Amino acid sequence: MLRSHTCGELRISNVNQEVTLCGWVQRVRDKGGMIWIDLRDRYGITQLIFEEGKVDQAVIEKVRTLGREFVVKAIGSVVERLSKNDKIPTGEIELKVSSLEILNPAKLPPFLIEDETDGGDELRMKYRYLDLRRNVVRQNLLLRHKVAQQTRIYMDSQDFVEVETPVLIKSTPEGARDFVVPSRMNPGEFYALPQSPQTFKQLLMVSGFDRYYQIVKCFRDEDLRADRQPEFTQIDCEMSFVEQEDVLNMFEGLVRHLFKTVKSIDLQEVPRMTYADAMKWYGSDKPDIRFDMKFVELNDLVKGKDFPVFDAAELIVGVKADGCAEYTRKQLDELTEWVKRPQIGAKGLVYIRYNADGTIKSSVDKFYSEEDLKKITGRFDAKPGDLILILSGDGDKARKQLNELRLEMGTRLGLRNPDDYKVLWVLDFPLLEYGEEENRWFAMHHPFTSPKPEDIALLETNPGAVRANAYDMVINGTEVGGGSVRIFQRPLQQKMFEILGFTEEEAKKQFGFLMEAFEYGAPPHAGLAFGFDRLCSLFGGADTIRDFIAFPKNNSGRDVMIDSPSTIADNQLKELNIRTTV
Ligand code: AMO
Repeated sequence: MLRSHTCGELRISNVNQEVTLCGWVQRVRDKGGMIWIDLRDRYGITQLIFEEGKVDQAVIEKVRTLGREFVVKAIGSVVERLSKNDKIPTGEIELKVSSLEILNPAKLPPFLIEDETDGGDELRMKYRYLDLRRNVVRQNLLLRHKVAQQTRIYMDSQDFVEVETPVLIKSTPEGARDFVVPSRMNPGEFYALPQSPQTFKQLLMVSGFDRYYQIVKCFRDEDLRADRQPEFTQIDCEMSFVEQEDVLNMFEGLVRHLFKTVKSIDLQEVPRMTYADAMKWYGSDKPDIRFDMKFVELNDLVKGKDFPVFDAAELIVGVKADGCAEYTRKQLDELTEWVKRPQIGAKGLVYIRYNADGTIKSSVDKFYSEEDLKKITGRFDAKPGDLILILSGDGDKARKQLNELRLEMGTRLGLRNPDDYKVLWVLDFPLLEYGEEENRWFAMHHPFTSPKPEDIALLETNPGAVRANAYDMVINGTEVGGGSVRIFQRPLQQKMFEILGFTEEEAKKQFGFLMEAFEYGAPPHAGLAFGFDRLCSLFGGADTIRDFIAFPKNNSGRDVMIDSPSTIADNQLKELNIRTTV
């Protein structure tokens, strides 16, 4: 070992010991006769001190050549500091250096390796290995490590077996777009990278593994957002001989264990909400229930009063913002502009102020009497001082828009504290959704999800009304996981493919292996997968998962550090049997 201790380790009890430290030069302060260096490694920072006259002049000269991020080895004795620093654990001591070795000089880094850096996103991504030296980013990865470790501890304690599934698999038409890999040995044919190990984990149930999990890379060629990466990690799980309730309890257990061990938080009971209620009350299948602000529907109260906008609307729906009646005209105009932005797309915003003096004023006073407005505020249980915000339009659209407005108001009112965690199960998703463009039904979750047994009869008559035994876990408005009870009998699986518009031949070609497996004694089974990166970013109190991935892609799906994707040589293309267009 080149060192005797780490830079985070020495305390007052080590005073007078001779030690050797290695690390990176964070900062040099040269006050003439005295030079201090902050030496940093993964574990912390230790202050080195060099006193002119008390140490070899050659050492002092060497110290004066040091720049930021030089890698050095320092030997010296631990002394008590005169002026202590209570902000760092090593702050009571410093190392009085007798000998210094430069292990490797460093170019000046392109940005400050400090908590508050001056580097922009692209620059930090290009030099990600330097960004990872920063305390804040490193802490995120250490947190990720801890979440993974604790996941393994819990899963192992519940008898789950970790099994690796292949990464070169087969492209299927359902779900997101696949990343594909050409096969040199099979000209004209391609592997696909797995969007998830879904079919493999089901096959492992047929094999009798009973309880499977894997912390596994998944790949989806989708447009990127803050909570999406083209390659991301799942905690993927499957269980045999269970019902939905068993899965919910098992994985509530996992999340409870993670909150306890990683965050020291005792999770309250996890409420459950049906998809239908989530849409009705929050306009979203992943409601943020850290704050209330439930939707209130107003059709019966506001139609027929000659306000053409409401008369023409399919749905009139609003939320109550507590204590916001004092919003100025300017603030309300700004909020109206906010909902009219193309990203939200509302045509306008109606507001009702329930003033502190008890009077009620609205932006549509022309059409509604004080009596009418009183009825509306009554339905919201509004009190003096509250503001009511109303949107109208096509049902689903108005709900989606109001969901955005609700979240925005929640943020503006400080009701979305990242340290406050509210976990929720959303249940009973529809099995199918209709693709208007493609003119066919799509599986809302995936084609292997089982309909609720009591709804199976509706598959023929009213497929849109069939509910699935599918569930999502939502934390603070983020979908962190989802899964379902699976179909495990060939006839129902075949029927499902038929409804999804597969010919018998196509179904056999794509998923024949799974349907055949179902004929060799498939147990009833169910499972789910957590988005591991999302879980980590939530635990870290951040919105973006990028900071919790060691080497992430940017918003165009590029790794700007290694400059990928990149072109490949003509002879490589030829070998892979891929013709170039030029
Ligand atoms: P699903 O597609 O819902 O289910 O994915 C499970 C969880 O993975 C996370 N996730 C992502 N995280 C980061 N970037 C992405 N691009 C991304 N896409 C999804 C989400 C999501 O809840 N095989 C099924 C699970 C099952 O049925 O057991 C599946 O993959 O947090």
